[in-house]
Amino acid sequence: MAVIGRSPAADVRLTDPTVSSFHFEVAAVPGGVHVVDLESANGTIYGGARLERAILPSGTMLNVGRSIVRLDLDAPFAPEATEIPVFGEMRGASRPMRELFSMLERLCRTDLGVLIEGQTGTGKELVARALHDKGRGAQGPFMVLDCTAIPATLAESIIFGHEKGAFTGAVERRIGLFEAAQGGTIFLDEIGELPLDLQPKLLRVLERREVQRVGGSKPIPIQVRVLCATWRDLRAMINQGKFREDLYFRLAQARVTVPSLRERPDDVPLLVNHFLQKIPHDMQAARRITDEALEELTRRDYPGNVRELKSTVERASMTAATETITPTDLAFERMLTGTRTHAPVTPSPSVAPASGELGKFKDVKRTLIDEFERDYLQRLLLKTGNNLSRAAQIAGVERHHLRDLFRKHGLRGDD
Ligand SMILES: Nc1ncnc2c1ncn2[C@@H]1O[C@H](COP(=O)(O)OP(=O)(O)OP(=O)(O)O)[C@@H](O)[C@H]1O
Ligand SMILES: [Mg+2]
Repeated sequence: MAVIGRSPAADVRLTDPTVSSFHFEVAAVPGGVHVVDLESANGTIYGGARLERAILPSGTMLNVGRSIVRLDLDAPFAPEATEIPVFGEMRGASRPMRELFSMLERLCRTDLGVLIEGQTGTGKELVARALHDKGRGAQGPFMVLDCTAIPATLAESIIFGHEKGAFTGAVERRIGLFEAAQGGTIFLDEIGELPLDLQPKLLRVLERREVQRVGGSKPIPIQVRVLCATWRDLRAMINQGKFREDLYFRLAQARVTVPSLRERPDDVPLLVNHFLQKIPHDMQAARRITDEALEELTRRDYPGNVRELKSTVERASMTAATETITPTDLAFERMLTGTRTHAPVTPSPSVAPASGELGKFKDVKRTLIDEFERDYLQRLLLKTGNNLSRAAQIAGVERHHLRDLFRKHGLRGDD
C-alpha cells in the first residue's frame, strides 16, 4: 500500500501545489491496482471522471491536480508473517493477522510512535497494549486517554496537569497524563477527536519531550512512548483542515491497520474457541460448539467486528440449552439481540423448539444483564484509568450509584 500526495509523510511525494497532502492511495490486488481517492480537493481523475475507488489495470494513467501519474505493477511483494497465531492477548491465524503480528514484533523493539487504524471492535486497543507489554517501557505505566471523553475546559489540565491555583477550581496540584505515564506508554484512543486547538500543544510536548503544567513555569522532562488509534481516515481529515499535518507526521511514525473480521473469516473458529475458554469457570455456560454452529458463526456478518463476535459467543454460551452450542442456540441468541438483518444462513431446522432445558426467563435475563453490566463497567474503568468521577461523567450515572455497581461486580474505581 502506498499514499501519493504533497505531504512529506506521503510515500510518493509530488510537489504540484494542486495536489492534496494525501491525495490518493494505491494497493496491489488481484486484477490490478486498487485506487482510493482520499477526499482530495481536486479529485483523482480517470478517463475524465472523478473516481472515489476503483480497481484499475497496470499501466493506467491518472490525472491528479496538474500532474499525471502512471500506475505500474512490479513483481508482487509478499510481506513476512509470523507462524504463531498469538500476539499478546490477540488471536489470529489468518494471513493478514500474522502479517500484523510480524510487523508488531518489529515495532516492539522501537520507540516509534504508532498510529493504529481499523474499524470499531477490530482490536486496536489490544494492539496498543501488546506494543506496550512487549516493548521497552513494559515496566512503566500504560495510560489511556479517550479523546472523545475529554471535557473541553479540562483537557489541558488532564493532559499536562496544573499547579495549585492555576485557575478557579484548581485547589490542588494535579499531575497530568504525561507525567503519570513517565517511563511507560500513553495510548491516545480516538485521536481523530482531539480538539484542533489542543493539537499544537500536544505536538510541542512530543517534540520537546517535556511538559509544563498549566500555571507552572518549569518544564518537566518526560520519557513516554505515544501510541494512538482511530477508525477515521486522518489523511482525509488533514485534507479538510480538521487535523494538523505536523502532528500526524509526529504521531504516525509507523502505521498499522487491524483488518476487519470480514477480511479474515478464517479467524472466526479460533476466536470462538478462545472466547469460550475465557468464560469464567464458576459460570454455568456451554464451552463447546458443534461444527454446524461454528460454520454458521463463520458465515455471519459482524459490523462490530471481534467485539460483536465475542458478545455473540458469550450470549450463545450462557443461554445454550446444553453444554454444546448448536444452531438452535444461535437462533435463540439472535432472537435475544432483536431484529438484526442477517441473511438466513441455514435452511432452518434451527427454528425447531430447543431440546433440553431452557433456563427460567428471569434467570436468563439476569445473566445477560449482569454480563452487560460487568463488560460495560470494566471498559469504563479501562477508559478512565479507574477514575470514578470521570467514569460517572461518561456513564451519566450518579457517583454513589456507580460505586455500588462496581462493588456488586467486585470491581473498584478510585475516588
Ligand atoms: N484478535 C483478537 N483476539 C482476541 N480478542 C480480541 C481480538 N481482537 C479484539 N478482541 C476483543 O474484542 C474486543 C474489542 O477489542 P478492542 O477494544 O481492542 O477494539 P477497538 O478496535 O479498540 O474498538 P473501538 O474502535 O470500538 O474502540 C475486546 O474485548 C478484545 O479483547
Ligand atoms: Mg478502542
